[in-house]
Amino acid sequence: MLEINNLSSGYGDVQVLRGISLSVAEGEVVSIVGANGAGKSTLVRTIMGTLPATAGSVALNGQTITGKPAHEIARLGIAQVMEGRRLFNHMTVEDNLLIGGDVLRDKKRSRDNLDWVYYLFPKLKERRKQLARSFSGGEQQMLAIGRALMTGPKLLLLDEPSIGLAPIMVETVFEKLPEINARGITIFLVEQDVQRSLSLATRGYVLEHGEIVLSGSGQELLQNDGLRKAYLGI
Ligand SMILES: Nc1ncnc2c1ncn2[C@@H]1O[C@H](COP(=O)(O)OP(=O)(O)OP(=O)(O)O)[C@@H](O)[C@H]1O
Ligand SMILES: [Mg+2]
Repeated sequence: MLEINNLSSGYGDVQVLRGISLSVAEGEVVSIVGANGAGKSTLVRTIMGTLPATAGSVALNGQTITGKPAHEIARLGIAQVMEGRRLFNHMTVEDNLLIGGDVLRDKKRSRDNLDWVYYLFPKLKERRKQLARSFSGGEQQMLAIGRALMTGPKLLLLDEPSIGLAPIMVETVFEKLPEINARGITIFLVEQDVQRSLSLATRGYVLEHGEIVLSGSGQELLQNDGLRKAYLGI
């Protein structure tokens, strides 16, 4: 579904991604793990077209998307939950969700997606008339995921959904991912929480200083000695 070939990008003179190659098949949950500054968010931005690639390519279902504007990439069925979330704080929870659904230009599908999002996150339904800014960090994360799902994506990119959340909220957010995946949505998860994200992943890649240094099934990686020492301290 997603094919990344020899992808490089950076900021000004600073190269961050150094020839990344990876693939995501339809139906998978693929995790990219790596330390602070490894280039995880840079990878997400380069896939989404908000940061231009300096070399290499990204293809979605065989179609090259490198160089396409971000909104066009979104319309091809990739939704992104960004680090820092970016909600419309002055709008209600429900309006934030409905704006996500607008890209479908299909009221019925938008309504169906809204029902599903409310089923996944009942708290969003309970509090649908409240302003987004009244939400806690964890609740805002749910809302950001909900809004991404409203666009009816085939591929969901999540950039560190656990960041800044209390453990119980991390649990709530992570336990929904298999349910989202079961609905036929492929998941590409970028995380610092190595244990949790690899436990959930069909496959994973380890990113260090802008390069993929290790890959395998989630379980294989969790049993890898180097990875355990470097990321789990065991
Ligand atoms: N807008 C920017 N301008 C210049 N350099 C940047 C910018 N954003 C990130 N960088 C640099 O690029 C490198 C990779 O950053 P990136 O945000 O991709 O890391 P990350 O793996 O997402 O880290 P974290 O886990 O902390 O979110 C870092 O050295 C960072 O300082
Ligand atoms: Mg990041």
